[in-house]
Amino acid sequence: MLSTDEITLRMTIIVTQEEIMSEPEIPQKAPFIMELEAGTYWWCACGKSTNQPFCDGSHKGTDFEPIEFTLTEKSKVYLCGCKHSSDRPFCDGAHNKI
Ligand code: FES
Ligand code: FES
Repeated sequence: MLSTDEITLRMTIIVTQEEIMSEPEIPQKAPFIMELEAGTYWWCACGKSTNQPFCDGSHKGTDFEPIEFTLTEKSKVYLCGCKHSSDRPFCDGAHNKI
């Protein structure tokens, strides 16, 4: 039978692991400023991709999924590099508060 301390410790470990799982990595604390052709893109939300700011499949096994976005014409974009924007995939200035 587990003691109260052991149960509390196990619950703390589970909560901590979930918190870690739901926090993205931060490739850079600034937007990726890019000129992109019209088309569909998948922005990396987990921060693990080696092809930032785009998804390379490295989110597998995490809580994250890439964000799909489409440009109807060639555009200059500011894609979030810190992965904390509320306007994903675009930078909203949240990197200034990290
Ligand atoms: Fe980060 Fe796919 S690699 S969302
Ligand atoms: Fe993420 Fe600006 S780079 S909010």
